[in-house]
Amino acid sequence: MIYQPSENRYSNMIYRRCGKSGINLPAISLGLWHNFGGVDVFEDFRKIIWKAFDAGITHFDLANNYGPPPGSAEENFGRILKMDFKSHRDELIISTKAGWDMWPGPYGDFGSRKYLIASLDQSLKRMQLDYVDIFYSHRPDPFTPLQETMGTLAQTVNTGKALYTGISSYEAERTQQAFEILKSYNTPCLIHQPKYSMFERWVEDGLMDVLGNNGIGCIAFSPLAQGLLTDKYLNGIPEGSRAAKASGFLKKEEVTRERIEKAKKLNEIAKYRNQSLAQMAIAWLLKDERVTSVLVGASSVEQLADNLKSLTNIKFQDSELNLIDGILRK
Ligand SMILES: NC(=O)c1ccc[n+]([C@@H]2O[C@H](COP(=O)([O-])OP(=O)(O)OC[C@H]3O[C@@H](n4cnc5c(N)ncnc54)[C@H](OP(=O)(O)O)[C@@H]3O)[C@@H](O)[C@H]2O)c1
Repeated sequence: MIYQPSENRYSNMIYRRCGKSGINLPAISLGLWHNFGGVDVFEDFRKIIWKAFDAGITHFDLANNYGPPPGSAEENFGRILKMDFKSHRDELIISTKAGWDMWPGPYGDFGSRKYLIASLDQSLKRMQLDYVDIFYSHRPDPFTPLQETMGTLAQTVNTGKALYTGISSYEAERTQQAFEILKSYNTPCLIHQPKYSMFERWVEDGLMDVLGNNGIGCIAFSPLAQGLLTDKYLNGIPEGSRAAKASGFLKKEEVTRERIEKAKKLNEIAKYRNQSLAQMAIAWLLKDERVTSVLVGASSVEQLADNLKSLTNIKFQDSELNLIDGILRK
């Protein structure tokens, strides 16, 4: 099949400036952690990428280990880029990361220069790219000096293999330190990627202030709590869902009665707002202007279409926010 991108692809997306940088990101970005690996159906996820680009999603988020098997999401994405997006590279922000266990031995994990440089080279080969737009340290490393990890991120920019640097899951104090080190290398930290959703609010205890005060963008991952903040699990665990799949990172034990009770109550507020629960969960994150983008996953074109509709209503009444807080804090 031949893909012809929609001519109207930039009409409906909201773009937000990423911190104090030159880059605008779509308010919704697409992540390839699940559903784009070697175990998934190529023609199905290829259509999700088409749908995303047609809707103005210019930012695609990957990591060395996405699959399964690890690396296969990058390979698949590289194939799709070659088949369908050859003449659109300059319209895309492509990110990848290294930091989690990727290959055996002492040099395939965490944040050493040895690991990060080798991993980025491998990612570029898998995606058949000359450079990525954002290269992240995927997680803090308690053993490697921060200076080494940040110095390596700066090196990837200086050598042209990445255009910008990012960090993921660093807590507030370490983020401030990372920011200072990167600044000393004249390669500012573009963006932080934390887990943030109505069910995971740790970023509100300091990290968001560090990001806002230093002009670092924020892209919230797992905004739907891997599907728990949708109507998917309200009546049990459906077949084919992430919690039901052997390769999924959402464990059945995480679909707790307490979370489902909360999701049911939140779903009533979403209905009142004429939104699906997924749409409300995304809108709720975007109410904070410091959140540059919400990084969703999707296993179908229909899910992505549902999520995109959240952008038509990202405003909340104080009364709605109070009700939501009341449900979440119980
Ligand atoms: N930096 C990090 O350490 C880190 C960690 C995790 C993720 N991430 C990034 O964040 C991205 C998103 O994470 P995530 O996939 O956990 O995000 P998510 O948006 O919270 O969950 C996505 C899943 O929710 C379900 N879903 C999505 N839209 C739906 C809808 N409208 N109705 C019903 N169900 C819906 C689907 O599950 P089913 O498959 O069950 O249909 C989908 O696979 C990843 O791809 C990755 O790029 C980064």
